Amino acid sequence: MVGKERIDDCLSTRNGHLFIEALDTVEIVERFGSPVFVVSEDQLRRNIRRFQKGFEAGWTDGPVKVMPAAKASWSSAVQKIIASEGCGCDIYSAGELAVALRSGFDPQYISVNGVPKDSDHIFNSVKQGARITIDGMEEFDIIEQAARELGTKAKVRLRMKPVLKGFTTSSDFVPSGPLSTDLAALAYKGGLPRDAVIHIGKRILKSPHVELVGFHEHHGRHHPSARYWEEQMKSYAEEIAIVSKALGGYQPGEIDIGGGFACPRDPFGSEIKYSEPYEFLVLYGLSKILSPFPDLRYRIISKIIDKAILFTPNQKMAPGIEEYGAVCTRTLKRELGRRGINTKGVMLQLEPGRSLHGNTGIHLTRVRSIKRMTEPISWSHAALDTTEFWFTGGRYEHHVFDYIFANKTGSPLVDKMDVVGRSCYGDRMFPTIKVPRDIEPGDIMAILDVGAYQEVSMSNFNAMPRPATLLVTGDRISVIRRAETQEDVFKRDEVPEHLAAIKGKTVSL
Ligand SMILES: Cc1ncc(COP(=O)(O)O)c(C=O)c1O
Repeated sequence: MVGKERIDDCLSTRNGHLFIEALDTVEIVERFGSPVFVVSEDQLRRNIRRFQKGFEAGWTDGPVKVMPAAKASWSSAVQKIIASEGCGCDIYSAGELAVALRSGFDPQYISVNGVPKDSDHIFNSVKQGARITIDGMEEFDIIEQAARELGTKAKVRLRMKPVLKGFTTSSDFVPSGPLSTDLAALAYKGGLPRDAVIHIGKRILKSPHVELVGFHEHHGRHHPSARYWEEQMKSYAEEIAIVSKALGGYQPGEIDIGGGFACPRDPFGSEIKYSEPYEFLVLYGLSKILSPFPDLRYRIISKIIDKAILFTPNQKMAPGIEEYGAVCTRTLKRELGRRGINTKGVMLQLEPGRSLHGNTGIHLTRVRSIKRMTEPISWSHAALDTTEFWFTGGRYEHHVFDYIFANKTGSPLVDKMDVVGRSCYGDRMFPTIKVPRDIEPGDIMAILDVGAYQEVSMSNFNAMPRPATLLVTGDRISVIRRAETQEDVFKRDEVPEHLAAIKGKTVSL
C-alpha cells in the first residue's frame, strides 16, 4: 500500500507517515510503545451509520436495528460507543451480556445467541429482559421456568438453520478442501433444523410465560459476494413462510439476518489461496523430482522463489455496506411478500461483526530483526515484536491482512521477505510479501483491518503479556485496555501443596 494519501475514512498518509484520524502512528508508538492495537472512534461511528442508513434505505416498511456482534470487539469503551449510536447488541456469553448491560444497551435489543447456553445465563437474560435467540432443544423449558419464577414474560426468537439450496459455490469457510456453501452452512452447529423450530414454536405459542417475537438466522461469511446474500435472503424467506404456516399463520414482529458480511479489504482465507498453488505444488513437487541433483535443485528453487513466490494481500474490495443493504432488503421484502408474510411494521435486525469493526482497528508493531539468506536458497525474514498468537481469530480463518510501513509510507515496496512474528512457532504472519528496500530494525508496520476478532482472541503463548489497546478520537488518544504485565501472565497460577517445598529464586518481572 504505497503512495495512497487516503486509505480509509480514518487512515491517511502524510509526509511519509501513516495517520489514524489526526494522529501520527509513529508518534503513537513512540509514546505508548509497541506492539499496540489502535481503534478509531470516528471509523466505528461512520460504519454504524452506514449500516443503519444502508439498510433503512431498502427496508421502508418497519424499523431497522443494527445490533453489532459483541464478540468481535467487546471492550467497554467500544461497546459504549456502539450503544451511544442507538444500536442493539448481539451477545454470546454471560460476560458479553454483562458488558452490554454496563454499556447502556436497551435489553430488549440484546440478542442472546449461543449454543449451548448455561441455565444461569438464560435465567439472568430473562431477568434483564433480553431477547433470547433459541438455538437448542433444551432451552425452552429453562426459559419458561425462569419467566414463571420471575413473574415475567420472556421474549424469544427462534434461530433457524440456513438451507441454502441456491448457492453451491465452494465455501471460503472450509480450509480442508472445496465444500459447497449449502453443505457447509448445514454442517455448522448454529441454528435449529426446521422440524425443531416448528416443534419449539408450537410450545411457545401455547405458553403464557414466553412470547415468540420473531426469527433469527445467522448466515456467516461463507462468501463475500452480493449474490450469496441474495440467495440467503431467498432461502430465509422461504423458511420463514414454511414455519409461519406450520405455526398457524404466525406473523413475526422481528426478523434478524445475523452477520457474515465481508469487511472491505476482506482478508478471509487469503493464506490458503496463497500457499496452495506455489508452495505446495511447485516447491514440493519440483523439489521432489529434482532431489537426485541437490545443487541444481537449490539453483532452480531459488529462481522460482525469486521470480514466482510473492504474496499480495487481497486487493479486491468486497461489496460496500450499501450494496449489502440493498440486496438483502430488496430480496427479503420481495420474497416474504410473495409468500404471504406481511412486512408492515416488522423490525429488521442485523448483527454485523467483521464488516462493522474490521477497518476500525490497526495493529502497530516494530521490525526487530532482519535476516537475509542467499545460500543455498534465497529466503529472507523480518521478525516483528508481535505474534500470530495475538491474531488467533485471523489465524483460524487463514487471514493475511493488508499492511503499510507506517514510518515509510513513501518508500516503494520492492524487496521480498517473510514477515514473521516473535513466538517460537514459525509465526508466518505475512508469507513472502513486498517490503521497502530500506527496511530496517525499528521500522513500524501497521497491520490493517484488525478491528474485529483479533484483539479479543489474544493468548499468552510463550508467557507473553498481551499488548494494550488505544482509542483515537480526533487528536485525542486514550488507553482502553491496558497492556498486561509479566506478573499478570502468572496471576492465575496455583502451586499444589506437594510442590510448595520446591524453592526457586525470587524474581521480579
Ligand atoms: C449469531 C451471530 N451473529 C453475528 C455474528 C457476526 O458475524 P460476522 O463477524 O461474520 O459478521 C456471528 C458470528 O459468528 C454470529 O454467530
